[in-house]
Amino acid sequence: MASKNHALDSNCITLTRFFLAEQKKCPQATGELTQLLNSIQTAVKVISSAVRKAGITQLFGTVGETNVQGEEVKKLDVLANELFINMLKSSYTVALLISEENETVIEVEVERRGKYIVCFDPLDGSSNIDCLVSIGSIFAILKKEDNTIPTLKDALQTGRNVVSAGYALYGSATMMVISTGNGVHGFMLDPSIGEFILTDRNMQVPKRGKIYAINEGYTHQWDDAIKEYVANKKDPSKGKTYNARYVGSMVADVHRTIKYGGIFIYPATTSSPKGKLRLLYECIPMAYIMEQAGGSASNGKIPILDVQPTSLHERSPIFLGSSEDVEEVLAIIKKHEKKGDA
Ligand code: AHM
Ligand code: MG
Repeated sequence: MASKNHALDSNCITLTRFFLAEQKKCPQATGELTQLLNSIQTAVKVISSAVRKAGITQLFGTVGETNVQGEEVKKLDVLANELFINMLKSSYTVALLISEENETVIEVEVERRGKYIVCFDPLDGSSNIDCLVSIGSIFAILKKEDNTIPTLKDALQTGRNVVSAGYALYGSATMMVISTGNGVHGFMLDPSIGEFILTDRNMQVPKRGKIYAINEGYTHQWDDAIKEYVANKKDPSKGKTYNARYVGSMVADVHRTIKYGGIFIYPATTSSPKGKLRLLYECIPMAYIMEQAGGSASNGKIPILDVQPTSLHERSPIFLGSSEDVEEVLAIIKKHEKKGDA
């Protein structure tokens, strides 16, 4: 009988298998990146398991509480951060870690140091945790070019130097979407075997979509260009109207944009003149994935991947998605800049 009729695939491509095969294609590869990605994979599996039973194990709520056993209750985002840090440090592949949860860089001790730098947001979309809406983890991997003591400066590289980036989405299923510069590939977690299985090879974002995603509660704080673009998307006299979708978890909004096309915008507002999202571990990794999937990501002026970061937790406006949709909003921004009222 053909193997497709079996519930279990005896030759399935796991995430580890996929990256081992990628590594073999590159004769100078040392296997360190595969090892690093494996450690992220382990962190993601544990986070996914914690997310799925957070209510039962009392992971919801605030830090500082103790459970019935007298143990300290860890909030999911604290747990996720510890997992990322512990798994990455013990992979012997990283020199420096940048986390949304840590004010300063985390230097890996000499004995466990490797050549990579990882910037990550261990659990993004925190406002969605307690109401069970999708959340995610985001990461970007850079290389440290010399053997000197790692410092913040090593992490302040443009997105063009990213070696690999990806995200994990804890949605109706858990999925990891990763690129090592060779297209974007999606792996679904099969909880029955605890493995990520390749389900979406070579993901491509449609050239144009019909969905816009932006927090419209801030309309009064947008500049005129953003107001015009969003108004156009709701005005039949300006072309086909778009559907509005906004999860409020960047990973979920970006994943939908890759799958269905359209645009995700987090613009500058009067109260956050540089937007909300962080360059190093939110904007750059997602821009890298988006470009690898054939889409675009801009800060409104230049591609996100060309922005030179200057500080650890710096923010950036972001316009990301189908290339034609991003082009359209950028053209409106340019028009307003010319008029001097952007
Ligand atoms: P967080 O890092 O505190 O979770 O905030 C990041 C999240 C993104 O996932 C999401 O795109 C954005 O904040 C939503 O912000 P807002 O509620 O202002 O629309
Ligand atoms: Mg975040």
